[in-house]
Amino acid sequence: MTASVRITLRPLGAAFEVPRGSPLQEVLFPYGVEFPCGGRARCKGCRVRVLEGTLPVTAEQERILSPGELDAGWRLACHCRAEEDLTLELAQWEAAILSDESPFAFTPRSGLGIAIDVGTTTLVAQLLDLRTADVLAVATALNAQARHGADVMSRVGFAVNEKKQELLTALIRTQTGAMIGELLRKGKADPASLTDVVLVGNTVMHHLFCGIDCTPLSRYPFEPVRDGMEPFRAEDLGWSAGGSIRFLPCLGGFVGSDILAGILAVNLHRSDVPLCLIDLGTNGEIVIGSRGGLLCCSTAAGPAFEGARISMGMRAATGAIAEVEPGPGGGLACRTLGDVAPRGICGSGLVDAAAVLLRLGRITPGGRFTGREPSIMIADPVALTQTDIRELQLAKGAIAAGVRILLGKSGLAEGDIARVYLAGAFGNYVNTASAKTIGLVNFPPDRIVPSGNTALRGAKRALFDEPGAYDELASGVRHIALDSDGDFQDVYVEEMRFPTETGDR
Ligand code: FES
Repeated sequence: MTASVRITLRPLGAAFEVPRGSPLQEVLFPYGVEFPCGGRARCKGCRVRVLEGTLPVTAEQERILSPGELDAGWRLACHCRAEEDLTLELAQWEAAILSDESPFAFTPRSGLGIAIDVGTTTLVAQLLDLRTADVLAVATALNAQARHGADVMSRVGFAVNEKKQELLTALIRTQTGAMIGELLRKGKADPASLTDVVLVGNTVMHHLFCGIDCTPLSRYPFEPVRDGMEPFRAEDLGWSAGGSIRFLPCLGGFVGSDILAGILAVNLHRSDVPLCLIDLGTNGEIVIGSRGGLLCCSTAAGPAFEGARISMGMRAATGAIAEVEPGPGGGLACRTLGDVAPRGICGSGLVDAAAVLLRLGRITPGGRFTGREPSIMIADPVALTQTDIRELQLAKGAIAAGVRILLGKSGLAEGDIARVYLAGAFGNYVNTASAKTIGLVNFPPDRIVPSGNTALRGAKRALFDEPGAYDELASGVRHIALDSDGDFQDVYVEEMRFPTETGDR
């Protein structure tokens, strides 16, 4: 018997050898497979289907997978080892990672700089020539911490309850250090000419990278004790190069330096007219204001926009229905990513589908199906259930309520906002007219600007400024804690409804 086995992954086409007996959680992670519940056999998110070879069924898998799924060859990768050659179909595909090539204003400096967007799921880093702001190299990766939980709260739980914060800190420092080495190699750059590294991320990523105790983020009032700019030397982090390294300051609560960077990217803090920035993630983050003052909040939208907790939801990857519009004869017409047969529906498809079903009168403004069917077919075999629509209402209601509370506290109305920037991958691809139809963003579509990875763009801008340049800006943004706001719950319930055709809600 040989000491290694061969694994082939469909539809990626990747094939590689690993030591016999390797846990699939270890070997599949580098290929984009995530483990949303951290491998605790609770979520089914890590499913793989055995096409060739065998993976034994364990008691945990029998508990969570249906007999039909088991018969079809589905297994939980988090509870399997590679004991023989295998060909596996992945229920997940490689994540699409959003980089940034937009131009921005800067004052030239000498040297090289690296900007890193430390996302909960993905990392993106760019090497820049600081004389020209030209991007010399790009590196992307799945966050190595993601095998210990998909969202920030499971990451905090792993750090605090299982006392693994040091492990998570070591993982992210090692991985970002390796990305810096990769960028310097790709850009054929001398490590000694690297003068600046700027990192941004949400509050949990900030704490985990900086080695600050996450315990305050695990319980009410969820306020960090230390969230300012954190400077480092390369030797503090075990990196071989770096120059002046800093993690930009957070804005409070769960509003991190990714949003501070977003403010820089769209020049919100210098605007004469009121603007709004919305990062539509699992944790929605919102900033409203102008040079006269900025308010921010975070709101728990849940993972529906990323296709999670939707019965046939999936990430924006091959086989996902990404666009839906009215079709002939009162039906629906869909576009699927990769132009293959539909396998599921991603966030932008879900928003489109709900908008079309509302217009066709197949769901009410309250979110109920008007017919008696248990599910509505979008494109065979992908259908939406009543529970799926409810998940979407929870997500869109959380964002819309956060915006409404900030508008109210600013003394502004929706019509006063000159532009609304939608950040992040979902914000970049969602159809703005559909987003308005379902009441996710209650602004005129022509004022909504899909803005891509504003966190990375803002981090790049910060490379050209002094390390402490943003402390004052960060401390001047007023953070509104929605969970202790007396109006939030009522507004949230109202905003869960879909607008009527006349736009009332
Ligand atoms: S069941 Fe959740 S990661 Fe495997």
